[in-house]
Amino acid sequence: MSPRRFALGASVAAVVAASLGAWLRFYYAGLVSLPLDAPDWRHAHSHAGVYAVLFPLTWLAWRRVGLPVPGPRTTALYLVACGVATVTFALGGYALPSIVASTVVGAIWLFTAWSARGVVRARRDALRLAPIAIVLGTAFIPAIAVSTRRDPALANGLVHAFLSILFFLVVVPAALARLASRTPADTTDTTDSTDANTTDSTHERASSRVDHALSDARVFGPLGLVAALHLGPLPNLAGAIALALYGFVVAYAARRAPRWPRALWLAFALGGLAMLAFPSGPPHALAVAGLHFLLLGPVFVSLADARGLPSLVAGGSALAMGAVLVVDVVLPTAILGVHAHTLAGALGIGWAIAAVVSLRS
Ligand code: HEM
Repeated sequence: MSPRRFALGASVAAVVAASLGAWLRFYYAGLVSLPLDAPDWRHAHSHAGVYAVLFPLTWLAWRRVGLPVPGPRTTALYLVACGVATVTFALGGYALPSIVASTVVGAIWLFTAWSARGVVRARRDALRLAPIAIVLGTAFIPAIAVSTRRDPALANGLVHAFLSILFFLVVVPAALARLASRTPADTTDTTDSTDANTTDSTHERASSRVDHALSDARVFGPLGLVAALHLGPLPNLAGAIALALYGFVVAYAARRAPRWPRALWLAFALGGLAMLAFPSGPPHALAVAGLHFLLLGPVFVSLADARGLPSLVAGGSALAMGAVLVVDVVLPTAILGVHAHTLAGALGIGWAIAAVVSLRS
């Protein structure tokens, strides 16, 4: 599939996901009513975003760094399945049609993981984790299905772990690899940069060892996994520490990126550090704020290779949305009150416009 088609699919999905998300915020603010059931609406929104924005952009990054991606027919099938899943989630929530469409989506994820399995041996950086993490993440789905009725709280925790595994070990590594592919000093290079021909000073050798140690999948993988379980069914102090360290490792990996994406990744790391205040897991609204900042800010700007004004607007909207939602949690009703939702909705619309412009260029 040509990069233009991936970008087009992701653009349409970004507009759909942002419209559903912004509408939901305006509904929370009491400005509009919802024509459909709110949880179903939320499912439609989150599935449109994860299935049809994040994965096509991840594959765009894979393609850029030489990993195999779905061909034209598989991509067409994938995008149709995403559309069907979004509509059927909105109309009927978790039911046969949305489960069938999601099964097609999941099967294509597994197919791409299998096609890209060579990366597990070929690279040392976090990108090698992607095929394993896709399989691990999808392995949560049967447990989620079984526990949904019997134990909704456990099912909710498993959904968050599943999503966090995909974000921390598939999407973020792709974003970092995409960034590195545009910077002169590629920190995720697979070649052995300790080669004496390329590093001739003790200082360079030492910093190269630090680079390799921190970008190594053996560091990235366990931190991302423990952090994901912390945000899911196993919140604990070790998980909060892993999340903080994960943020630091990611920010370090992005340190040679251009200033704006680098600042956004640093903000993510600082957010991870702040989460140490919640050793037994962040409150739901705070997790939603952090998730949206991560995905709409550093992840989107890096994956879409956004530049110039659209990059500033996309990252700035994400930062402002995260800040507004955090203030709303930390200082409830005192400062923004119901306007937090209105502002977050408006920022979501601003983000979508910047996202479409970024993906067109
Ligand atoms: C790539 C784009 C996006 C993705 C992947 C995405 C993903 C998600 C996910 C996974 C959830 C469920 C979180 C949970 O319940 O744990 C969610 C919820 C939500 N998202 Fe997004 N989102 C995106 C863009 C947006 C935008 C632009 C807005 C606009 C303001 C937005 C507003 C919301 C709202 C209001 C909720 C419900 C929060 C709640 O009920 O507590 N999202 N999103």
